[in-house]
Amino acid sequence: MNRLTRGRGLLFGGDYNPEQWPEHVWAEDVELMKAAGVNLVTVGVFSWARIEPEPGARDFGWLDRVMDLMAGAEIAVDLATPTASPPPWLGRRWPRTLPVDESGHRLWYGSRNQWCPSSPVYRERALAIVTDLADRYAGHPALALWHVGNEYGQFCHCDDSAAAFRGWLQHRYGDLDALNEAWGTTFWSQRYSEWAEVVTPRRAPYMINPTQSLDWQRFCSDALLACYRAERDVLRERTPDTPVTTNFMGLFKPVDYWSWAVEEDVVSNDCYPEPGDPLSPARTALTHDLMRGLGRGRPWLLMEQSAGAVNWRPHNLPKPPGQLRLESLQAVARGADGSCYFQWRASRFGAERFHSAMLPHAGPDTRLHAEVRAHGQELRKLASVAGQAVPARVAMVFCWESWWALEERGRPSDRLNAADQLLAYYVPLWERGVSVDVVPPSAELSGYALVVVPNLFLVSDRDAAALTDYVRGGGVLVVGPFSGVVDPRAHIRTGRFPSPLREVLGASGEEWQPVSGEVRCRWADGAEFTAHTWTELMAAEGAEAVAEFAGSGRPAVLRHRFGQGVAWYVATIPEPAALADLTARALADADVRGAVPDGARLPPGVEAVRRGDVLFLLNHGAEPATVPVPEPAEDLLTGAVADGLITLAPRAVAALRPHG
Ligand code: GLA
Repeated sequence: MNRLTRGRGLLFGGDYNPEQWPEHVWAEDVELMKAAGVNLVTVGVFSWARIEPEPGARDFGWLDRVMDLMAGAEIAVDLATPTASPPPWLGRRWPRTLPVDESGHRLWYGSRNQWCPSSPVYRERALAIVTDLADRYAGHPALALWHVGNEYGQFCHCDDSAAAFRGWLQHRYGDLDALNEAWGTTFWSQRYSEWAEVVTPRRAPYMINPTQSLDWQRFCSDALLACYRAERDVLRERTPDTPVTTNFMGLFKPVDYWSWAVEEDVVSNDCYPEPGDPLSPARTALTHDLMRGLGRGRPWLLMEQSAGAVNWRPHNLPKPPGQLRLESLQAVARGADGSCYFQWRASRFGAERFHSAMLPHAGPDTRLHAEVRAHGQELRKLASVAGQAVPARVAMVFCWESWWALEERGRPSDRLNAADQLLAYYVPLWERGVSVDVVPPSAELSGYALVVVPNLFLVSDRDAAALTDYVRGGGVLVVGPFSGVVDPRAHIRTGRFPSPLREVLGASGEEWQPVSGEVRCRWADGAEFTAHTWTELMAAEGAEAVAEFAGSGRPAVLRHRFGQGVAWYVATIPEPAALADLTARALADADVRGAVPDGARLPPGVEAVRRGDVLFLLNHGAEPATVPVPEPAEDLLTGAVADGLITLAPRAVAALRPHG
């Protein structure tokens, strides 16, 4: 990322699709980009058919001119490999490149993403065009970053995919006996007697074997990763100094980004908060923290967001004035070194013609474009923030494999979900301005004062032992319900649950008891709160019951002093206010405070986060908000000096650096 921001400051720009426009428009694009402070554009994402109009042909002339134009304007290019959307000729001539859904139906061209990750023909054709692209633009002065594919996430159930799945399983299990054992195929007469019988989890009369399904999701993520890596390797070989990325989609279930991020030079993400959802600011902050976690703390790039409304929700709300700036600065505050958009100029045709853009159909003399221009210029004032870290003393553990395993059919309740739990535990930290690193279960935890595990349904013995050691060594741990339930094969861990965490939690249970409505709970001091959806029949084994299910004497929340540390277990889904109380107590155990002085509560809707020596305050609320500032500070955005208190208008942002 340093290589990208050096001499440029924060990156600002978006997807640029000049192939949709006559060339005379390009000159206007460049002038307007310069006026808006654009310094990075993503080019070529969907240009395969344009570059290769028929099999083997190459038409790079137009792209040469675009690249030269950008070089002349000193706008860096994030050059995309065009492999997300093959031309129709690929599907027509080689139908086996087209993906097949779980019902066995082939999906056709006419949209995008119509390729099978395991198709040898797709892979060969994709690598051929990537090779020529890299050879052509290696050393081009505009080339700054490679953008591989786009939003990887498809899967395919064709015979080629089934064969590849079997190969993946053979590698994982060695022989069929081991697979039968891992999948528990004595259940429902599923035993496989030869490899050819093993298929992808195609549509079946009733519930699919959960371990088959889990392995399928692992395989799909790996198969896509293999496609990405093959392209990346071609690019790295030809342009070793040009960083490589592919755009993620936040908490996107089909792809295990922990295994992907280590294969990238820069983590980048696409993020489209729903303007009408009051939880959007916290959800978005969580996503940004995940991106920082994926990059192991390094700055990341907000690759795509919308300047106004998207067009893929059923009802698409525009962003009110100031929202574009607020959301962009939120990403910067949480570690992004660049804030880019889909897309530069709004399309006139195609499926996204009603999607907003930095330059609307109505042209540059518009409210929206004026905001874009002002924001692009303003970002220069934050150039010194580029490269700075967001320090956090709290970690939240999140695991894709556990997510997949949890959300299989046939569990006690389909209302307990991994991403919902993650957000629920994140919100009270966000509300207090406590910075959080999102980490995988295998992360080194010893540097954190507090580790929160909202749900870890699937856990390996090793990761459970690491959590136990973390507390023994003095850490504070909070574990949410239905954790530690299955092993990496998705087999139930027998005995009282959560068996691998029983020692550290000082408690164990014997029954999961979902509830249809709310249940009343009581803190030890008598104050009551409600919980919902989920309860567990637990017994303390050394832990103290800090809350119980009212009237039952059964523990609902447990706190256990263990070794040098403290472990909390939450055997239900508390209402938000109760989870906030619990979080405050765990923060006190860990001696962690938020970004504003003396643990002061932030006004509702105000976000506070430190990046380097800059304290960002963002008002997502509809009312002005007054916030205490820890020391005299200068607002890098306005030049004003704040001392004691600062008042933020709705959607206002302050970037405060200690003054003097
Ligand atoms: C994603 C894609 C883009 C575009 C936008 C629309 O970010 O990568 O190509 O489809 O969504 O919001």
